[in-house]
Amino acid sequence: MVMGYRPVNLCFLLQVLWCAMVEAQDWHVDMPTKTNALSGSCVVIPCSFTHPSSHNPSVIIWYSYHSTKYPVVYSTDAEAVIKPFRGRTELIGDVKSGNCSLKINYVVPDMNGYQLYPWINPDTVSHKFYWKTVMLNVQEVPSTVDLFVEGEPKEGDTLRIICAVKHTCPFFPPTLSFGDTNGNVQNEQTALGQGYWQTISTISFPAQVSDQGRVVGCWVSHMRRPTVPKWMEINLSYAPRTVHVSGENSMAQAGGKMTLECRSNASPPASSFLWYLQREGPVLGLTTREKSITITDLPPDQSRFYCTAQNTHGVANSTSPFIVTAEYPPSIQPESCCMIHPPALRCWCKVQSRPSASVEWRVDGGEPHSVLTDVMAVSVRQNHTFSGKIRFNGTFRITNVTCRAFNAHGQQEHTLVMKELPLDVAIIQQPTNILEGQYITLSCVVSRAFPAVLSYSWYQLRGDRDVLLSEQSERLHLLAAGRLMGPYRCSALNEVGQSSSASTLIHVDFTPVISPESFCALKNGEVKCECLVDSYPAAAMDWVAAGVQAKQTVTTESHGSMKSTLTGRLGSAGDRAIFCYAANEHGRRHLQLTLTDSSASNGSSIAAAVCGAVILVLGTVTALYFIQRKRRDRGNKYDTPVEVELEDTQLFRTNWF
Ligand SMILES: *[C@@H]1O[C@H](CO)[C@@H](O)[C@H](O)[C@H]1NC(C)=O
Ligand SMILES: *[C@@H]1O[C@H](CO)[C@@H](O)[C@H](O)[C@H]1NC(C)=O
Ligand SMILES: *[C@@H]1O[C@H](CO)[C@@H](O)[C@H](O)[C@H]1NC(C)=O
Ligand SMILES: *[C@@H]1O[C@H](CO)[C@@H](O)[C@H](O)[C@H]1NC(C)=O
Repeated sequence: MVMGYRPVNLCFLLQVLWCAMVEAQDWHVDMPTKTNALSGSCVVIPCSFTHPSSHNPSVIIWYSYHSTKYPVVYSTDAEAVIKPFRGRTELIGDVKSGNCSLKINYVVPDMNGYQLYPWINPDTVSHKFYWKTVMLNVQEVPSTVDLFVEGEPKEGDTLRIICAVKHTCPFFPPTLSFGDTNGNVQNEQTALGQGYWQTISTISFPAQVSDQGRVVGCWVSHMRRPTVPKWMEINLSYAPRTVHVSGENSMAQAGGKMTLECRSNASPPASSFLWYLQREGPVLGLTTREKSITITDLPPDQSRFYCTAQNTHGVANSTSPFIVTAEYPPSIQPESCCMIHPPALRCWCKVQSRPSASVEWRVDGGEPHSVLTDVMAVSVRQNHTFSGKIRFNGTFRITNVTCRAFNAHGQQEHTLVMKELPLDVAIIQQPTNILEGQYITLSCVVSRAFPAVLSYSWYQLRGDRDVLLSEQSERLHLLAAGRLMGPYRCSALNEVGQSSSASTLIHVDFTPVISPESFCALKNGEVKCECLVDSYPAAAMDWVAAGVQAKQTVTTESHGSMKSTLTGRLGSAGDRAIFCYAANEHGRRHLQLTLTDSSASNGSSIAAAVCGAVILVLGTVTALYFIQRKRRDRGNKYDTPVEVELEDTQLFRTNWF
């Protein structure tokens, strides 16, 4: 069997050429020219061959290439195998089917560099198999592990992490493990050809955003070698989330500058942005599409910034705003002013500022308390608006009230305008004298009003009700009817308030009317006469009483009612005719009154006759009087002038009891 180490060509010399030709055509071994074997692992050298039909392959021996010798690497005779291959090689191919594959069970570093080749039926085949060898390349370091995420998973997809390793030992393939990562694991082994295999382990689980950036390990264990981990970081794709605006500072000065950034957690990072600004009103879109925005000329008070971030997977808004508060110096609002409400003066100063301003009042250049007594100040600070009120009570002669406001950013001083109620409201009648049936105009006048009068209103007192009339201008037009109209009053309204005129009655002119109630009486020689007159304008009154030494008094009662009284002694002449006269610009009236002596009624026979006549006349007069009285009452009540025309000759006798 020692001879067996060397193949022997059994061809006859004559046959050499022919044999060589046949063998060159038909003996063919297919195997890689080299193989990488991992030290400590196994290696399979794939090998197949074809042979001339004249041969029947039955024995395969593997040799290590040597220029002069034939060291055996595999043989059924284990003793013949050289070190380091002894006991470690195995023919796994089926010779009958042309399979010469060799397995080395335990690769050791000493095997490095050997060039191996098989010889089929070495005892009988002279073909020079050693022209084709496979180089054994023993490696100390396992081949690299491929660990990667399949595809470009998005949030919610199934995330598949693949761990793959190439090896040469299909009988004891490496084991792969994902450590404490949970998921569904699948293992698979594929032949790559040329003596290489690949072991693939796949772990799959639903992708969550929280997996982004997570480090996953794959532990690879080759036969009889220490376990080595390989690490990778998960990279998911997802729409932007946790979008928020970030800025250097939330406080600023109005008019200043600030840069804001729209930040988000997005994979891939957000590439398109929208910006929104909200102040007091609705949300407004800004024009920039950049991640950063620089706001110049910051508006005062609070500005709320929002942003929207977008990447290829979606879009999201910032949930809460970034609030920039811009501070500014005080500004006294134009509505600040003083209002004179006699006897008080109220001043009001409204200041906008941030931070809130302090306010100082000055009255005629001094401190209010030093200039005035009874000062009451109220101030309210709300929404960075100072509203201050100061009230002075009683007499004041203020020329100048100022309000000075200041904060850390500046100050402002303002002299407050003085506003007052319309002053001295009065009604002027045009024309001053009117007769019934004429038109009259009442004007509502004010001596001073600042600010100007905004509107007027007119009222008429009816009974105890103050009735608002429809007229709203400063003039009221009326048709004169009756002796008295009204009373009327007007009021003028401005920003401060309204002031009213006094109630004014309108007198309509008429000719004097002498009342039938007028009378004359004589008692014990004393004369007493009363003449009752209605007249507007007032009547001049006079008595004609030739027989009476008398004195006269005239009294005027309300609404043009007048009374003239005549008292005295009856003279010796005994003329008992007495006349009452009343005259104004519209006419003159008189009434004759007859003097009756009540003290002489007992003795005289004439007196009895007169008495009968008096009673007769009295009845008539009383009836007439009641009719007239009724008319007059009605006239007064309705302001309708009822002219009571009395005949100059008409005679009234009245008894004075
Ligand atoms: C040779 O045999 C081995 C082991 O049985 C097998 O894995 C391989 O596929 C075979 N090669 C061919 C080319 O049939
Ligand atoms: C983001 O906010 C803006 C403004 O409020 C709104 O118009 C838009 O529809 C919002 N977009 C999303 C995705 O919510
Ligand atoms: C202050 O601001 C709040 C809310 O912004 C508002 O409701 C309130 O009316 C403001 N008050 C004044 C006095 O302006
Ligand atoms: C001051 O005001 C109070 C209440 O408003 C009032 O009762 C008082 O009479 C006023 N004093 C003067 C001097 O007008």
